[in-house]
Amino acid sequence: MSNRIQLNTTYTNHHNIHVGYQLENEVNEYLAANFGLKKAVFIVDENVLELYRKTFIKEISSLFDEPIFCSVPEGEQSKSLSQFTNITDKILEAKVERQTPVIVIGGGVTGDLGGYVASSVLRGMPLIHIPTTLLAMVDSSIGGKTGVNHSVGKNLIGAFYEPKAVFSDLKFLETLPQKEIINGLGEVIKYGMIQDESIFLSLESLSLSGKFTYSKEWEQLVTNCAKIKSDIVSKDFKESGVREILNFGHTFAHVIERVRGYENSSHGEAVYMGMWGAVKLSNLLGFNIDITNLSDFRALYTSSFEPLETEEELANLMLHDKKVKDGSIRFIILEEAGQARSEVVKDISLIKESWKYIIQEFK
Ligand SMILES: NC(=O)c1ccc[n+]([C@@H]2O[C@H](COP(=O)([O-])OP(=O)(O)OC[C@H]3O[C@@H](n4cnc5c(N)ncnc54)[C@H](O)[C@@H]3O)[C@@H](O)[C@H]2O)c1
Repeated sequence: MSNRIQLNTTYTNHHNIHVGYQLENEVNEYLAANFGLKKAVFIVDENVLELYRKTFIKEISSLFDEPIFCSVPEGEQSKSLSQFTNITDKILEAKVERQTPVIVIGGGVTGDLGGYVASSVLRGMPLIHIPTTLLAMVDSSIGGKTGVNHSVGKNLIGAFYEPKAVFSDLKFLETLPQKEIINGLGEVIKYGMIQDESIFLSLESLSLSGKFTYSKEWEQLVTNCAKIKSDIVSKDFKESGVREILNFGHTFAHVIERVRGYENSSHGEAVYMGMWGAVKLSNLLGFNIDITNLSDFRALYTSSFEPLETEEELANLMLHDKKVKDGSIRFIILEEAGQARSEVVKDISLIKESWKYIIQEFK
């Protein structure tokens, strides 16, 4: 039996996030109880499809008379309008109906793309997320943000659309490459920084550098992170207030990803680097935040950041972030450990100083 978190929003109905190990029976029970078993759409990351076609995916797809499979090539370039069109063509030609479930199995790329398909085909089909990366389990499958990228920027086309259920099965993490565990860890560390220092205690008891091995401690950690995200989203589904604190480190991270190129950049690593900038900025604004909770993980993030741009140019690039309002840059800063809030920073010298700190640490 999985751990269950209920996500309530005033925006739409509540739904459950199930976190556990080997959840195929639980998924099947849920599907059988909630949907007709004729057709179902499976939008699946290509690597996950290959690894689990004879096990997990076979178990749940054989419940349906006509499973429709759409494989999503790995990589950020799949979050595109052309992939969106490929999938919508295929499922509309298969004559799906508004009640046909869309079951999305993969990491954040497949989740964002598949979620957007479910949000728009026939004006909305029931969406079930089965996240298979650590990042997707603790972050992207929760909170209803779906979408694709545009040549002008990342995530610029999309919709807020809630799933009917999320099933996070830690069995999937056993095949996830180590670098993707480290990637997801960036967001786990973020929850520790903005909300709950006990996450750092949980992380101490886990081995993070070797291959992932399932344990109850991992399950509890993923559950705690999912609960933090879902509690924040419950209060502010459309990101007009408290949800902003989830962007801790991200204002810096988005620029790091842009200058490195999204394809060469791990989001979690950029967030990790960005949090160094956000801690520095908090200190420059007069809050005494210790870097130790971040620096304890420094050895896991091995790639360097040596931009061609100056600190001033990096600071200016922040003005292009889609969350910039009226030309002022809002940052999430810490007033104390676990206490985050947003702050408009007008003094560009503080921002440049924070960039200098990141560059020095990661050169
Ligand atoms: N919607 C949101 O709220 C939200 C939040 C954060 C990030 N995101 C988005 O998430 C995306 C990144 O997601 P990600 O980090 O999960 O990356 P990803 O989806 O690209 O997956 C990473 C890699 O892992 C492989 N993979 C996935 N599951 C596997 C498994 N169980 N075993 C073996 N290989 C597996 C994939 O094929 C891929 O190569 C970005 O596009 C980002 O914008 C969305």
